[in-house]
Amino acid sequence: MSTPLLSVRDLHVSFKTEDGVVRAVDRLSFDLERGRTLGIVGESGSGKSVTNLTVLGLHNPMFTTVEGEILLDGQELTTAPEPELEKLRGNKVAMIFQDPLTALSPYYTVGRQIAEPYMKHNGASKKEAWERTVEMLGKVGIPNPGQRAKDYPHQFSGGMRQRAMIAMALICDPDLLIADEPTTALDVTVQAQILDLLKDLQQEFGSGIIFITHDLGVIADMADDIMVMYAGSAVERGTTEQVLRSPQHPYTWGLLNSMPRLDSDTGARLSPIPGTPPSLLNPPSGCRFHPRCAFQGRVAGAGRCTTERPPLATDRASACHLTADQKRTIFIEEIKPRLG
Ligand SMILES: Nc1ncnc2c1ncn2[C@@H]1O[C@H](COP(=O)(O)OP(=O)(O)OP(=O)(O)O)[C@@H](O)[C@H]1O
Ligand SMILES: [Mg+2]
Repeated sequence: MSTPLLSVRDLHVSFKTEDGVVRAVDRLSFDLERGRTLGIVGESGSGKSVTNLTVLGLHNPMFTTVEGEILLDGQELTTAPEPELEKLRGNKVAMIFQDPLTALSPYYTVGRQIAEPYMKHNGASKKEAWERTVEMLGKVGIPNPGQRAKDYPHQFSGGMRQRAMIAMALICDPDLLIADEPTTALDVTVQAQILDLLKDLQQEFGSGIIFITHDLGVIADMADDIMVMYAGSAVERGTTEQVLRSPQHPYTWGLLNSMPRLDSDTGARLSPIPGTPPSLLNPPSGCRFHPRCAFQGRVAGAGRCTTERPPLATDRASACHLTADQKRTIFIEEIKPRLG
């Protein structure tokens, strides 16, 4: 088998804070192949953004401890020097952030901020870079892009800033694109255009995409594979078809039950998962989901869920002590009828 584009192994990320050490990512492993899209889902605070910012080396080393391996095309990133990472960012790897103001500086025009890295990474002339910038701004749906490229970020609406950032991420045709809730702030028509743009990029350049979203309709449309995260680790993974059609982890069941679905026209009643995500300062022992799980009583071996953390195998897997048979049966008999 060829090397995956991205390979994350046993990643731990923790932050030193005034209250103590926040273990934001804990024992996380996954692979991404070229030309594929991995969708990451999970409640707010489950570590989706931290994982991806870590891949880009964007944490302040003063307060952050990173352990484990992040291999991009076989190159280890956790120990790579900052200049090396800077070369990768915006060229080989690009990210569309949740908040566009993280990516745009208030001091330069939008066009300049998109054109300059393009010039730098591609050896393009100023004129070529500007033309390509205007073309990209047009592609992401900025009206009158030639004029608007000369505006500063504060002259753009929130949705336009989001689109400008997407243009900035796509202009260098990155091998790996990380899109963190890229279209949440946009209206449905523009959202569809952007998603098509991402698909085109992938077709043309075989890029790998990590796509984070709360929208299961978008995940179903975009992702080849899904990883479900809870409290800093992956609890389930599989192909999109496997995870959406026959989920095998009690947390995924709860998540599916609590998220709106594009394909349900009946507006079936959504029920949130009882309880709240755990504190990452002092996470629960055993399975981190056990305090909220309705199924621990069915696991053979009393108290096992509170003491023993279930591992997650690679490929199709769910980190839960229920047997494979129990997972299948509970889903089909008790969960599926509720999802409609
Ligand atoms: N710099 C930091 N210092 C301390 N804690 C942090 C820092 N950055 C993130 N965290 C904590 O790490 C955990 C994971 O955060 P993260 O932003 O990855 O969540 P998320 O899954 O992206 O959530 P959302 O869906 O809301 O974007 C949270 O508890 C968050 O408060
Ligand atoms: Mg986030």
